[in-house]
Amino acid sequence: MPRDMTGDELRSYREQRGMNQQALVTWLNERLNRRYDRAKVSRWETGAERIPQTVAAALKDGTEPSGIPAAASRGAPVVFCAANQKGGVAKTTTCVNVAWLLAQAGSRVLLVDCDPQANATVHLGVDPHEQELAKATLTHALKSTRPMREFVVPVCDGAFHLLPASISLAATDRELLRQPNGTLILRAKIGQLAGHYDYIVLDCPPHLGELTVSVLNAADQLLIPTQTELLSMMGIPQLFETIAGVRELVNPRLGVLGILPTMYSPRRVQDEQVMTELRALAESENLRLFSPVKRAADYTKSVMAGRPGLAINPNSAGAESYREIAEALLDLAKEGVRHGA
Ligand SMILES: Nc1ncnc2c1ncn2[C@@H]1O[C@H](COP(=O)(O)OP(=O)(O)OP(=O)(O)O)[C@@H](O)[C@H]1O
Ligand SMILES: [Mg+2]
Repeated sequence: MPRDMTGDELRSYREQRGMNQQALVTWLNERLNRRYDRAKVSRWETGAERIPQTVAAALKDGTEPSGIPAAASRGAPVVFCAANQKGGVAKTTTCVNVAWLLAQAGSRVLLVDCDPQANATVHLGVDPHEQELAKATLTHALKSTRPMREFVVPVCDGAFHLLPASISLAATDRELLRQPNGTLILRAKIGQLAGHYDYIVLDCPPHLGELTVSVLNAADQLLIPTQTELLSMMGIPQLFETIAGVRELVNPRLGVLGILPTMYSPRRVQDEQVMTELRALAESENLRLFSPVKRAADYTKSVMAGRPGLAINPNSAGAESYREIAEALLDLAKEGVRHGA
């Protein structure tokens, strides 16, 4: 009878391969056709539960986790952003939930809060004021020569990482990013993170100023969330112009993943009319129109809980839409659409 694998051995196996607990769970479940979760791995690692022989055997058979290559062999991240200069269209909600789903799929994810309102930071239970006092926000990362990695904090019990924002980012926008080539600083800083993350998610502020242009210069893929009401979609043509400018000057590889209708109420006539217009717009621009996210109180409540809505209720209205987006991003990574590739 072989000796049981110990929790320390499991942890060291995982860490040597640069995997987080979720990545290990995903690999084990695919390989053994099981439904283990991260809490289970945690209990194995602390010794609270015995590690099953089948798990130990899978880990010891010499086959490296193939879908989840070790950190050193992984390439540059896919950089994803949600942009729309209209306020309150669910950019932040989208970034937080997509980051969560990508992490659940076993990816190493960093969410960078690029909005001085710091809504993503607060949504993930991090205090922007404390981060400012600790000089550990995007403002400080952009101005510092210290590595970007020193500014990130784990969120959602370590499921993914956040680079927080605070209100001081508004001044950075005015002072630093408006200097010659200032809108390339974020792109250069993101470049430092190659090899550390599979996905970097950038949350934009609600305007087309230097911060948003910095994000578009740095991104591989852009999603356009829009509320299903007329005023929200009116800004999309202007956003297309900004995208064209960014492609021409700095980032020809910027792709548009699609349009995401949000806060959709199927019984409202206006929402149906806007959906019809969005379908026509998506068709004429040759863009994917994701399934609309219905209006649901879960998302607002989750802000108070400091966690993504889908971490609290994976079956919230709109869960399918957010899964479609995460899957589209996972497919892109498989096809090799990576930052700087
Ligand atoms: N599907 C939904 N149903 C109901 N409320 C939602 C939904 N999605 C997001 N919300 C809520 O709508 C508000 C605006 O969402 P969010 O902050 O994500 O938008 P935003 O585009 O990032 O805003 P801003 O432009 O200010 O950055 C928040 O209170 C959020 O909780
Ligand atoms: Mg926001």
